Formats: sequence, C-alpha cells, structure tokens
Amino acid sequence: MQDIFVKDIARYEGQEVRLKGWVRNIRSSGKLLFIIFRDGSAEIQAVAFRGDLGDELFEEAKSLTLESSLILTGIPKKHQKIEGEYELSVTGISPLQIAEDYPISKKEHGPDFLLSNRHLWIRAPKQWAILRIRHTVYYAICEYLNDHGFFRFDSPILTPNACEGTTTLFDLEYFDEGMAYLSQSGQLYLETGIMSLGRVYDFGPVFRAERSKTRKHLTEFWMMDAEAAYVEHAENMAIQEGLIRFVIRTVLAKCDKELGILERDKDVLRAADVPFKRMTHYEAIEYLRERGSEIEHGSDLGAADEVLLTEGSPVPVFIEKWPKDIKAFYMKRDPEDDNLVLGDDLIAPEGFGEIIGGSQREDDYETLLGRMKAEKMDLEAYQWFLDLRKYGSVPHSGFGIGLERLITWMTGTHHIRETIPFPRMIYRIYP
Ligand code: 4AD
Ligand code: MG
Repeated sequence: MQDIFVKDIARYEGQEVRLKGWVRNIRSSGKLLFIIFRDGSAEIQAVAFRGDLGDELFEEAKSLTLESSLILTGIPKKHQKIEGEYELSVTGISPLQIAEDYPISKKEHGPDFLLSNRHLWIRAPKQWAILRIRHTVYYAICEYLNDHGFFRFDSPILTPNACEGTTTLFDLEYFDEGMAYLSQSGQLYLETGIMSLGRVYDFGPVFRAERSKTRKHLTEFWMMDAEAAYVEHAENMAIQEGLIRFVIRTVLAKCDKELGILERDKDVLRAADVPFKRMTHYEAIEYLRERGSEIEHGSDLGAADEVLLTEGSPVPVFIEKWPKDIKAFYMKRDPEDDNLVLGDDLIAPEGFGEIIGGSQREDDYETLLGRMKAEKMDLEAYQWFLDLRKYGSVPHSGFGIGLERLITWMTGTHHIRETIPFPRMIYRIYP
C-alpha cells in the first residue's frame, strides 16, 4: 500500500492509501466517525463506518482525542458537496498516541496564553498558513536574487563592531578578546563580499535590543541583506522594487489556500504589483504636514506617519534622500545636497510600515573617515571596513529586508510575533 501525503490525495482516487498524521477534530455518532485529519501538507475529512471497522476498532477509534497521532488507511473519494475536495473512506485506523486534553481549543484564547503555548499553537490553521507563506517568501527572495546574479555570502553573527548604531546592541564577553556583539545586519561584511563576487546576499537571524513594545518589533528577526558593486542609488531601488513585486506574485501564485485561510484580500496584494511610488524625505514631510501631521523637516518618520503616507493607496512608497543626521554613517552623501544621503526606506501599504532599509554606500575613504570620526566611532574596530575604500573602491549599494515585516504585510497579520516560529521580544523568551 502506498504511503502518501494529503496534498497528493487527488492522484489516488479509488486506490487504498496510507496517511500519517494527527487529529484536528473528531465527532462520532452511533455508527459513523468523522475525523478531520491533518498531516502537515494539508487536511482531509476521513469517514469511518462501524460496519467497516468492526466494533472493537470502532470503539478504539472513538477514544481518539484532539491532536492524537494516528495512521489511517482508506480510499480517497470525491467530496459529495465540495467541488475539488476529497474525503477518505477509512479502511483502518491505528492510533499512535492518545493526546492528553489539548490546551488550545476553538474558544478565544488571549495572546499571552497562546504565546506561552507557541510550541502547540503553531499547529493551528492560521499559524500553519502563515508559516507556509513564510517558507514561500523566503524561497522567492532567494530565487529572485539567484536569477539576478547574487551569490549567497554568509555574514558572521558574532562581530567586533556595530552595524546599525550602538543603542540596540546585544553584547557578550568574548574570551580574551573583549566585547563581542550579536549582528544587527550583515551589511558591512557584504560590502567585502562584492569586491570578490560582485553581487552577494545573506539571509539569517539578526539581533536588536529593541526597547519598543510595538507590533512591528522583534529582538531577533530574519534579515536578507543584498549588496552589489557598481550599482548606484536609482538602480538599487529598482532591484528592491523588482524583488518585492516578484515576492507578491509568487505568494499569490503559490499560496492561494493559505491566503484564503487567513482571509487575506488578494486583490489588495495584486494592486501592489505595480510601479512603486517615490518621494524624497523632504516631499514626504510636506505631504504629511498637508495632511495634518506636525512632523518637522529633518526628523525621522514615526509609525503614524508611515500609516498616513500610504493611506488610501495600495502601492508601497520609497522615501529617498534622507537628512544625513538621522541615517547611518555608511550612507553616501547626495552629490546634489551635502546635507542628504542616498538612502531609501520602503514603506508597505495598509499601515504595515517599513519593510526595507537601503542605500548607496559612501565609497570615498576621506568622507567616510570624517563621518566616522564625527560619530566618535572606534576606528580600529572598523579598519577592515575602511580598507575597502583603499583597495579598489567602487560605487556600490545594497539593502536589507526584514523578513517578518514582509510576511506580516503579505499575510495581513496584525502583530509581527505570529510570523516567526518562536518570537523573541523584550518581554518574552519562552518557549
Ligand atoms: O533599516 P534597517 O535598520 O537597515 C539595516 O540594517 C541595513 N544595514 C540593511 C542593509 O542596507 N543591508 O533594517 C532593515 C529592515 C527594516 O526595514 C525592517 O524591515 C527590519 O529590517 N527591521 C526589523 N524587523 C523586526 N524587528 C525589528 N526590531 C526590526 N528592525 C528592523
Ligand atoms: Mg530602517
């Protein structure tokens, strides 16, 4: 007998098959048993008759509880009422383990309870759908980069210096070498990689000791940093746009069922697969002030400003050319205005906020050194980074995508904590 996954059930109509999985739900009457059976790949309704199983096995099967593990044999048949769906007509049931009273039920649970039971909560349909979309987004990003000449270049997590400022660093004592820090972004290392491979990316966990308790911040999240030699500011944004639009199309093409479970409006996603808007930081402040915001020129955007910027429009918006004082030391000065840098933030629509931070990088040794001195950075720890401006410096650019921010938007999830298997936040490390 063939062992199969539920997702492949249609190919086996009328043939006896074996399925291995868990009980999502079960109900029985005198001579009928309905099991909603899931195996990770999908779920199916299994129907067992007392007459087919015999009294003893039927009684044993009735003792199955929610989330019990079991192996089923049966014959797939077209569902009588739902077009395209299948049912399993059960021929045999072997329970593996009868689950204790399952703590997560259909009734409403508070977020704290669910997060404390995250190791079980991930089995719930919505969490299952989000995790599958996470998988698809991850591979779509890799596919796009691979097709555009980027090589994977893994940056270290233990580092001697900060990438994104010192206020959100996790530090630890590193043997006799002094302090080490958990990476906030692999960017600086990727800048070394392009001088060897031309175009590179990394994809892994990064860490920020964020004191903010917002629905957009994790202390450990996944970042994809990409970096490319001889790419300047405008082309950098074009790559970001191409990549995000490819992710949207891939999610729509591959995750129809998952988006359905999440009740995500697919038309809203489809509408974002068009050329993105572009605004300078200056224009963005003007735009916000016209709409009642009290934000001043020269200041960073708050969460409310990000919402206002995309309100009523399904299209993501690039905010480019930022005041240098509110952006990182490595961003290249705008040749047209010395007070600005060639940085860009990509703001997702529907209030999902910033999903990408990117920039052209300062490639002039003296300019970069001057900026680092002005910020009182420890030059010795960054000597290797400065070296790149001495040995064949070239114009180059890159960007970083926050994977969970992007998934939050794709899935329409309210809080970022549901987009990663085990969220790490200022007030939570368990489980
Ligand atoms: O804008 P950020 O800080 O940019 C960098 O780290 C650059 N070095 C990237 C680069 O150019 N290679 O972070 C990039 C993205 C943000 O746009 C956001 O999507 C996400 O990372 N992000 C967070 N996601 C979850 N929780 C947090 N605390 C985040 N902080 C940033
Ligand atoms: Mg940013």
